Amino acid sequence: MTRQTKTIAIANQKGGVGKTTTVVNLAAALSARRRTVLVVDLDPQAHTTLALGLEKTAGVSIYPVLAGVKPVDDVIQPTKWDNLNIIPSEVDLAGAELEFGARQDRLEMIRAALAPVRESGVFDYIILDCPPSLGIVMTSALVATDGVLIPIQAEYLAMDGLALITGSIERIRQSVNPGLELNGIVFTMVNSTAKLTADVMNEVRNHFGEKVYETVIPRNVRVSEAPSMGVPVVFLDPRSKGAQAYKTFAWEFQAKNPTRFTPPRPPAASHPAESAPAVEKPEVKADDAVSGDTDPQ
Ligand SMILES: Nc1ncnc2c1ncn2[C@@H]1O[C@H](COP(=O)(O)OP(=O)(O)OP(=O)(O)O)[C@@H](O)[C@H]1O
Ligand SMILES: [Mg+2]
Repeated sequence: MTRQTKTIAIANQKGGVGKTTTVVNLAAALSARRRTVLVVDLDPQAHTTLALGLEKTAGVSIYPVLAGVKPVDDVIQPTKWDNLNIIPSEVDLAGAELEFGARQDRLEMIRAALAPVRESGVFDYIILDCPPSLGIVMTSALVATDGVLIPIQAEYLAMDGLALITGSIERIRQSVNPGLELNGIVFTMVNSTAKLTADVMNEVRNHFGEKVYETVIPRNVRVSEAPSMGVPVVFLDPRSKGAQAYKTFAWEFQAKNPTRFTPPRPPAASHPAESAPAVEKPEVKADDAVSGDTDPQ
């Protein structure tokens, strides 16, 4: 079996749309599916760091790696959960926009900082949590990634917000990162079947087609309570509506973004049964069985 690390930036210049919640719970649900995950908290607010149960620690973030004073391996921290690791954020990162904004290599700085991790092949997924602005940190995150996942709320002007970020993606694709893809769009904090919600969702689905994930994340109080306990809701209350939705979303995400590939067996086989294509054994965990999930790969 071969493995290819996928880097995904979760981004939207609009604040409070569920970026961090999606990073934390997608990463947690993938790790529970035995995928190795590295979360990179690029937001000086450090909400991802706290939501995954870590404290802010001076010198432990991507900042000293960008500054060239620490190797990236020194800032990768384990979390309490297997397969789930993080490069945390800290207050210094707030200075990155100003301090590194004039550097010639500013667009490539995050890509270069993460290159050794990518090349090591240790992780299935590297998931970047972007700050809510189209500044240098978010732009260089888009240069460092294979795909961009955009969480949005089904609200008035949602399409305008999408046009801004998809415009940025297009500019970066045409210049520094030709491989950059719109990974997808996921609706978060969906309240009800209110007419406006349904209209906005239809408009976005009509425009972006299959780029829009089928799974929709509902507004759920357990999701909003989990960060203060430093535990992703998919672990804190796996049966809550929010956790179930994030687990289903992770299943859909993993199916669309496979990272492990089983090469076909050579055609010459002495026994007919041996000529069947090799299929990776599904990994069904107790928790998956409860939610009716099976492994998409
Ligand atoms: N499905 C949900 N149900 C209820 N509350 C939610 C849900 N998703 C997110 N929230 C809450 O909404 C708020 C904003 O979410 P989050 O921090 O994930 O957004 P963000 O886009 O990362 O924000 P920022 O732009 O500030 O980084 C948080 O208080 C979070 O707990
Ligand atoms: Mg956030």
